[in-house]
Amino acid sequence: MKNKVLAKFAEVFGDAEGAKVYFAPGRVNLIGEHTDYNGGHVFPCALTIGTYGVARKREDNKLRFYSMNFENLGVIESSLDDLKPYKEADWTNYPKGVMWAFGEKGMKVPSGMDLLLNGNIPNGSGLSSSASVEVLTGAILRDMFGFEVSNQDLALIGQFSENKFNGVNCGIMDQFAIAMGKQDNAIFLDTADLSFEYAPIKLEGAKIVIACSNKKRGLGDSKYNERRSECEEALAELQKKVDIKTLGDLSEEEFESAKEVIASDVRIKRAKHAVYENQRTIKAVQALKENNIAYFGQLMNASHVSLRDDYEVTGVELDTLVEEAWKVEGVIGSRMTGAGFGGCTVSIVKDEAIDNFIEKVGEAYLAKIGYAADFYVVEIGNGPVVL
Ligand code: GLA
Repeated sequence: MKNKVLAKFAEVFGDAEGAKVYFAPGRVNLIGEHTDYNGGHVFPCALTIGTYGVARKREDNKLRFYSMNFENLGVIESSLDDLKPYKEADWTNYPKGVMWAFGEKGMKVPSGMDLLLNGNIPNGSGLSSSASVEVLTGAILRDMFGFEVSNQDLALIGQFSENKFNGVNCGIMDQFAIAMGKQDNAIFLDTADLSFEYAPIKLEGAKIVIACSNKKRGLGDSKYNERRSECEEALAELQKKVDIKTLGDLSEEEFESAKEVIASDVRIKRAKHAVYENQRTIKAVQALKENNIAYFGQLMNASHVSLRDDYEVTGVELDTLVEEAWKVEGVIGSRMTGAGFGGCTVSIVKDEAIDNFIEKVGEAYLAKIGYAADFYVVEIGNGPVVL
């Protein structure tokens, strides 16, 4: 991959003299969905697939971007003097947003660069290709200009840029999982205070399989921000009765005895998901520590049901993938992952059942939805690196 991206960089920008190659992973969340902006726990891991970047410092303030994933867009030019989001700037709003965010945090980017990207995360799949680009850009700026920032800072700056520059009110999960990734480990993160621990994923005789629905969506045009405000409203209502800072502060029992202060049935369902999903995530990590993969799988299934019925962020594509997966022997657990409304599912499947899983779920999906899903058997990888 390194030679391939360097060769392309030379083709696009004249030569590759002095250019360096970087990588940042994508991520998949095993459990703990739509909890990260509710002060709850998440349990994501970085993947070995992700975004490769080739970057070279320039003498002027110019920014020249090229993506091998969007070759039809050609070279997109901008400048450090014009760090604003534009619709026609397309994917370059992500790296530009991070450059802007560094400036806001007191680390003004001193000179422009040529940047080429090549990602092997399916775009718009819900495996965080955008957060991968954000963390990658942060890692490039750190290396290129010697900024003193930790990987955790890269996550926070990435989220800040996504919130303030790209207008998506996302939580910290994606950028954190990518910046802090550790091979063969998932990250049990408490989003209330960013305390975390690594948990080894030892799936003896099973693998993580991602099924991509190929239904395209962007967080900006999804109902993501709407769900977030529904939860904020429910929290404000609950705070009239209980002394809590976030929905993640409540146990299931506490929620059940306080929920009548929430004035709408829809908001009760949204808050219920946030509370129960957080508790499920805590239980799932405990189950994993006790090597109880079967229970971990049941919690994944329950997570999907809650996202389907209470949080209402699945849709026929994700439901079909998951419900068909549940029918296949050797599937330990299956659920949608990421924001929802399209994107991917994550399943834990016994080794000997993987081929049959892909065949059966793939056929049923094509028959019902009318286009094919893609399947990836993935591995858990590290955070950003200079290659
Ligand atoms: C997206 C957001 C995350 C998180 C998930 C849902 O991936 O970027 O912050 O909220 O959705 O769990």
